[in-house]
Amino acid sequence: MKPAMPLILPAGETLIAATHNPGKARELAALLDGRFKVITAGEANIPEPDETESTFVGNALLKARHAAQIGRRIALADDSGLSVTALEGAPGIFSARWAGPTKDFALAMRKVEERLEEVGSDDRAAWFTCALAVAWPDGPAVVVEGRVDGTLSFPPRGNRGFGYDPIFVPEGHSQTFGEMDPAAKDAMSHRARAFELLKAALFD
Ligand code: IMP
Repeated sequence: MKPAMPLILPAGETLIAATHNPGKARELAALLDGRFKVITAGEANIPEPDETESTFVGNALLKARHAAQIGRRIALADDSGLSVTALEGAPGIFSARWAGPTKDFALAMRKVEERLEEVGSDDRAAWFTCALAVAWPDGPAVVVEGRVDGTLSFPPRGNRGFGYDPIFVPEGHSQTFGEMDPAAKDAMSHRARAFELLKAALFD
């Protein structure tokens, strides 16, 4: 939703990316067309909050507000994951946690396959979600959500992506995100769609 009043997001401003992952911060800066300097929550000495909300939107807002409040700068946060229709939306906001402390996504993908066998459903429909939130210190916040639909395919195929990419075949395609040219994935992904919505909400 567009804010009623134009929000001030001056080009050249330093934003905090509410992540401790420098790769993610670089990706966020690039997706914003280099309009801003982006530092990580780690560089700003902001601890990671517990992700206590039950939705992607809720957790993205929580992380952005927390970083803006403590860092006293405009902050940007994302929350994303894979949802499986036959598993009532699981792993959803727990997508990273299903990979365990060693971030073992071969394990997480096996878990998805096992759960599908347990429920005995042939429905392989799934979708990726990315929520993006921007928060001002003591001020308003904007949040958007992008989604890409597809089906799951086992065994996993391809090693070009990350996370659950090797089991996800986007609608209208035959390759998994793990097999696909990264530029093709980037053009259709939940993250790209969320960024388009965010740019439309903030700049257009
Ligand atoms: P977050 O960093 O807490 O938002 O965790 C997101 C998790 O969802 C990641 O660890 C990935 O496992 C999964 N995920 C999100 N986006 C993608 C994607 O584009 N491909 C594959 N897995 C993804």
